[in-house]
Amino acid sequence: MSTSVHLPVLLHEVLDQLDLRPGLTVVDGTVGAGGHSSKIAPKIAPGGQLIGLDRDPMMLAFAAQKLAGQNATLVHSSYAELTEVLKSQGLTQIDRLLVDLGLSSDQLADRERGFGFAAGGPLDMRFDTRSGISAAEFLRTAPADEIARVFREWGEEPAAEPLAQAIVGSRKFNPVESAADLVSVVERVLRVRDNNQGSHPATRVFQALRIHVNRELDQLTRFLDTVLPQVLRPGGRAVVITFHSIEDRIVKQAFRDSAVWENLTKKPIVATPTEIRLNPRSRTAKLRCVVRK
Ligand SMILES: C[S@@+](CC[C@H](N)C(=O)[O-])C[C@H]1O[C@@H](n2cnc3c(N)ncnc32)[C@H](O)[C@@H]1O
Repeated sequence: MSTSVHLPVLLHEVLDQLDLRPGLTVVDGTVGAGGHSSKIAPKIAPGGQLIGLDRDPMMLAFAAQKLAGQNATLVHSSYAELTEVLKSQGLTQIDRLLVDLGLSSDQLADRERGFGFAAGGPLDMRFDTRSGISAAEFLRTAPADEIARVFREWGEEPAAEPLAQAIVGSRKFNPVESAADLVSVVERVLRVRDNNQGSHPATRVFQALRIHVNRELDQLTRFLDTVLPQVLRPGGRAVVITFHSIEDRIVKQAFRDSAVWENLTKKPIVATPTEIRLNPRSRTAKLRCVVRK
C-alpha cells in the first residue's frame, strides 16, 4: 500500500484548541490518514483512549498504518452514528471531539474514485462505495431539475440549469461516466477552459455532487444538533474544520445555541500564509471550537 500524501490542516491550532491531557477520551470523527490523530494520541497517554471513525475503508487502512502501536481504536462508520459506535465500545460520553470535514488528498489522488478533475475512471465520489448511488448514476438517472437543484444548492453554481440540461440532453448517447467527461461538459457549457488561475471552473459542480451522493450536509446537521450535545461531557470540547461556506454556515448556526455551547472562537481560526503556501488545501479551512456547558 502506498503512503499517505495528505497533510493535516491547522494541526497546531487543533492541538491547542483541544487542550489535551493524559487520560482523556477523544473521538476523531473523520480520522482520514490519521494526520491529526497521530499527534493527539501521545498527548492523551497514559490512560487516554482515541477512537477514530471514517466512512472510507481505504482511509482507515492508511490510519491503521499511521497509528500502529498507539492506543487507538478504528471504526468504519459515519460520525453521525457516533452514539452507536460509543455504545459498541462500552462508552456513553467523551471528553474531546475533532471533525475535519471534506476530502483527503489521498482520496483526491485515487484516480479510480472520480473525486479529482483529471480522473479517467468512473465518476463515483462516494466515501463508502457500499452504500448509495455513484455520482455517474445520479447524472444518468435523475431528472434535470433535480440535477440543477443539487448544482445550485450544494455548489452555488450560477449556471446550474444550463449544465443540468446539457447533461440530460446528451446522456442517452453520451452519458457522463468519468470526471474528465464532467469537466468537458462544464467547459463546453460555460465556454471556459482551466487557465490555472484561481479555482477550476468545474470546482462547484464537483463539490455539489460529492455533497449530494454522500448526504454530507444531512449528516453534519444531524450530528451537530442531536448527537454531539448528547455525547460530549459537560466541560468537553469539540473542534470542527470546514472547507466551504455552506458547511461553515451549518456549524456556525449549530454552535450559536448558547444554552448548550460556550463558543471559544467568535471568529473562525484560519490558516497562516505560511501554511497556505505549504499546503494550498488549507486556504479555505475554517476552525470553530466550543465547550459543552
Ligand atoms: C479531510 S479528511 C481528514 C483528514 C485527517 N484529519 C488527517 O489529518 O489525516 C476527511 C475524511 O473524512 C471522511 N469522512 C467524510 N464524511 C464522513 C462522515 N460522515 N463520517 C466519517 N468520516 C467521513 C473522509 O472519508 C475523509 O477520510
